[in-house]
Amino acid sequence: MRRAVLVIAAVLFGATAVVAQQDLIDQSHASMKANGKALGGTLSPMARGDKPYDQAAVDAALAQLEDSAKKIPSFYPASVKDVKQTSDYTPSPKIWDDKAGFDAAVASFVKAVSEAKGKIKDLDSLKATLPTIGKSCSGCHETFRVKNS
Ligand code: HEC
Repeated sequence: MRRAVLVIAAVLFGATAVVAQQDLIDQSHASMKANGKALGGTLSPMARGDKPYDQAAVDAALAQLEDSAKKIPSFYPASVKDVKQTSDYTPSPKIWDDKAGFDAAVASFVKAVSEAKGKIKDLDSLKATLPTIGKSCSGCHETFRVKNS
């Protein structure tokens, strides 16, 4: 009886852990997609002159990037490594194999976003600041993101 209770508890605990991992994966995809929108839908088109400069939209985009920068260090614990991902992109195993490299990529993103905060006041400062942010995204993606085939 006691054994059965333990087995049931273990199964339930295991299921909860899987739900928690799936939740984390959903959160990381949602946050990354929102980053893509902030950059590709707001900041880049403004910098190119395809959209008029809009300070409120800039601030909202930066707030999204800041939120993501805060969460990124907790998005990819080793427990999500083997969970099958259905999105277009998956975390690369290098995140766990090269932890120091991944931490450095996170740090460069955090730095780029915190330095941009309060600095972008007009089109010129947007143009001057955006490349550093963009490079911190692609710098991480090049090594630590894999496209699902
Ligand atoms: C430190 C690493 C890192 C940084 C910095 C980073 N990303 Fe990502 N990004 C990932 C990983 C890993 C994935 C794949 C797994 C996922 O979506 O969570 C990803 C996925 C994405 C996706 C695809 C999401 C999906 O579900 O298909 C987009 C879009 C994206 N990132 C945009 C950005 C933008 C824009 C920035 C910068 C403003 C950025 N990312 C910064 C690591 C990073």
